[in-house]
Amino acid sequence: MHVVPLRQRPAFAALTAHHARVRDLSLRALFAGDPARAARLAFDVAGLHVDFSKHRATAETVDLLVRLAHESGVPARIEAMFRGDRINTTEGRSVLHVALRAPRGTRLVVDGEDVVEKVHAVLDRMAAFSERVRSGAWTGHTGKRIRAVVNVGIGGSDLGPAMAWEALRPFTDRSVAFRFVSNVDGTDLVEALRDLDPAETLFVVVSKTFSTVETMTNAASARAWLLAGLGGDARAVARHFVAVSTDLARVRAFGIDPEATFGFWDWVGGRYSMTSAVGLSTMLAVGPDRFRELLDGFHAMDEHLRTAPLERNLPVLKALLGVWYAQWFGAAACAVLPYDQALRRLPAYLQQLAMESNGKRVRLDGTVVDHPTSPVWFGEPGTNGQHSFFQLLHQGTPFVPADFVVCAHPSHGLRAHHDLLVANALAQAEALAFGRTEAEVRAEGTPDALVPHRVFPGDRPTTTIVLDRLTPAALGALVALYEHQVLVEGVVWGVDSFDQWGVELGKVLATRLRDELTADGEPARGRHDASTEALLRRLRAARRAAGGAG
Ligand code: F6P
Repeated sequence: MHVVPLRQRPAFAALTAHHARVRDLSLRALFAGDPARAARLAFDVAGLHVDFSKHRATAETVDLLVRLAHESGVPARIEAMFRGDRINTTEGRSVLHVALRAPRGTRLVVDGEDVVEKVHAVLDRMAAFSERVRSGAWTGHTGKRIRAVVNVGIGGSDLGPAMAWEALRPFTDRSVAFRFVSNVDGTDLVEALRDLDPAETLFVVVSKTFSTVETMTNAASARAWLLAGLGGDARAVARHFVAVSTDLARVRAFGIDPEATFGFWDWVGGRYSMTSAVGLSTMLAVGPDRFRELLDGFHAMDEHLRTAPLERNLPVLKALLGVWYAQWFGAAACAVLPYDQALRRLPAYLQQLAMESNGKRVRLDGTVVDHPTSPVWFGEPGTNGQHSFFQLLHQGTPFVPADFVVCAHPSHGLRAHHDLLVANALAQAEALAFGRTEAEVRAEGTPDALVPHRVFPGDRPTTTIVLDRLTPAALGALVALYEHQVLVEGVVWGVDSFDQWGVELGKVLATRLRDELTADGEPARGRHDASTEALLRRLRAARRAAGGAG
């Protein structure tokens, strides 16, 4: 598929000229010159209040960026996604996570099949199973009620469920423990299981491919732990293991009953899968009704993306600002700062979503890009970040746009804490935008030598997203906002946001190195670089000293 390179689109030249005119415009000047700015650039959509006013953008910037979106084919690509076209061209797949939250009764026919009907059939099975576990009707092998759910998966099969569980804890059944095991490092599994009773533990093994080495290794060890704890009766597996996958044959080969398997489809990308059966642990935690509310929140933002004009379309505007800063301000990083402890895992979730999607160097047609694509995404919950990396955000040399996510109402009763938290979010965004000038620092009586150290240059842009409360619906709308931002950025950059070829090479090398690490005989020389060979020898020696083979 031929892509007109970004630099060759007419709006690109217009934006380059425009940037030269506005790059020195301060946010102080922008606000002073436009009393309506704050109101004009704040939007209420799907229960989210999104304030874009602290961005280094004029009305003309927005017009030009929207022109760029049109020239990049953003509306057509959005339509193509909702139609089920195979917009993941390198894998020849549709990209239909929006169908996962389409209301019952709507239709989306792909290859002659209504995918919405299939989605709801799985949701119904998930709901029935969740109700049985939550009510105690589903018991373990020895007849005990399930008191712990362990989600075993990695990447998109872990981050969404783990993030959602943290975010929605006030809505969860507190009598059941939830754990998330992802890393192949045995510490992850061992620590997760340390205080659990096998007779009361349910494993949810989640893997789109059911071949990911981390998940298969963890699942096999979990199975061994279960059987060791329950006297070795292999029939116990059926009561303590369920699977979520697109590859039902592999699930069966692992020994999990098809009846205890929840499917999804290759048109759901791993990092876009938390509203598919991958959300089973979320549903087990919050129940089917709350899970439906989560899906409704996603759907509200999906509909906004599909129907709102580009100049008032939140994911589109957010994406265009992302492109603006990456391209014209050299932003190689962006921060996500949830001022809500329950959203602690949101930055990790968004790292996979954004960087696995748009961390690309070639366009859809295979040509190499000559412009930046995804920045590095990072973040920590407020106020922890303030006492760590905010120094760099305020006074460092990199230019790092940031998102503040704030809830108007807390999910706890400690009002004074919440007031402080919210005040800090507002204060940080204000300080980043408007800084403190040299004159202001001097006027405070600061000694001359300290003046440069105490100046805050300001003009560091932020988006503030306010949720009324962190409900399932608000979480859904928030995550969908980011999903669609990533889609639109990818369209402007001309990349395939839905493949991830860059994870393959390491997997192949790791398989070979594992064999060499554990082989009895000394591995042949010259198969790796000198550094890797020396490290391999050293680690083989350590292994031998500990009594292992090799
Ligand atoms: O990291 C590569 C990747 O394929 C991700 O895209 C995916 O979310 C993760 O591995 C897990 O894959 P699976 O669900 O197939 O185990």
